Amino acid sequence: MSTRIHLSAPHMGEDERRFVAEAFDTNWLSTVGPNVEGFERELAQRLGGSVQALAVSSGTAALHLILRAIGVGQGDRVAVSTLTFAGSVWPIMYLGAEPILIDSETMSWNLDAALVEEYLTSAARSDALPKALIAVHLYGQHADLDPIAAACARHGVVLIEDAAESLGATYRGRETGTTADFSILSFNGNKIITTTGGGAVLAKDATALARMRKWANQSREPAVEYLHREYGFNYRMSNVLAGIGRGQLRVLDDRVRRRRAIFAQYREAFADLSGVVMQPEAAWGSHTRWLTVLSLEPEEVPVTPREVVTELDKENIEARPVWRPMHMQPIFAEATVIGGGTAQRLFETGLCLPSSSSLTESDQARVIDAVRAALAVMPDRSR
Ligand SMILES: Cc1ncc(COP(=O)(O)O)c(C=O)c1O
Repeated sequence: MSTRIHLSAPHMGEDERRFVAEAFDTNWLSTVGPNVEGFERELAQRLGGSVQALAVSSGTAALHLILRAIGVGQGDRVAVSTLTFAGSVWPIMYLGAEPILIDSETMSWNLDAALVEEYLTSAARSDALPKALIAVHLYGQHADLDPIAAACARHGVVLIEDAAESLGATYRGRETGTTADFSILSFNGNKIITTTGGGAVLAKDATALARMRKWANQSREPAVEYLHREYGFNYRMSNVLAGIGRGQLRVLDDRVRRRRAIFAQYREAFADLSGVVMQPEAAWGSHTRWLTVLSLEPEEVPVTPREVVTELDKENIEARPVWRPMHMQPIFAEATVIGGGTAQRLFETGLCLPSSSSLTESDQARVIDAVRAALAVMPDRSR
């Protein structure tokens, strides 16, 4: 059997082992040490220096810290993209708040700014404004944030960026992760760069970041004994994993270039197939193509993304449908949803293809052949 082709595999550069070896050699084998400090500093520098970074154990943990820092609590509302991964929403639940799920637009597949404006205006009238809004930048592409930020500012809603999938992307010349007061990144193993598992809080407010740093470290007060005035979490990133992150940061630009080239190759390979539509790149920024995503227009393509995923799996190739929207998840069946039809259609028609920056040309050719073969299959739907 041929080797499995993954959707998005870790891809190490040359420096990661050196930083990890240094951690071992110097016995910095805990959640403090030069790699943690270095990773936070170098990450902030890579993003242009307008934010400070806190390295944590996951993107989900990062979002939990931010929501707490802005005072989200029991009974508050927090608006969030419905088309996302559940990690964007769990921290709302951890704090006993209520998620309000908002639909996407069809250009970037991210939050629909017009819908956000409409929702906030109506929520203000009924005195039911959310405390915060989480704008997710899916698959490596930025949401159209300026109008969303303006609407949030008008209504006093704190804007948070979920940039877990978009590190390396830009929005109107600005780096993702720097276009709101608070942002999160994920360094999970499937992301464009990884620390095997991990995340970061990015914040412009140094005081808020310092509070989050304390909470992430079990809320230890600066005292010789273990002194706690607030409850805390164990969310710090280890110095070993931060070493991997330092090496990965050095190859981020290469990884973006390679993923964009993979997308271009798929686009060319499927150009003759009607009904196969590559995800657009919005004019407001540059897409990293973390994942190559396309839609199969049901009017023209006889197979669904799920069927293609199953066919590719038989060839030992991992593909996925687009995220199942949160309002279509059993656990959020009772949640308030604003719109939802666009996200539903993107879910029903969208397909994510293997996009690892380490994908070889021959493996990509294997994926292309398998997709073309799967699309040629005419299922007998009468059965
Ligand atoms: C959009 C989005 N938000 C949040 C997360 C959560 O990040 P983590 O897995 O590091 O907790 C992820 C991915 O993993 C994600 O894709």
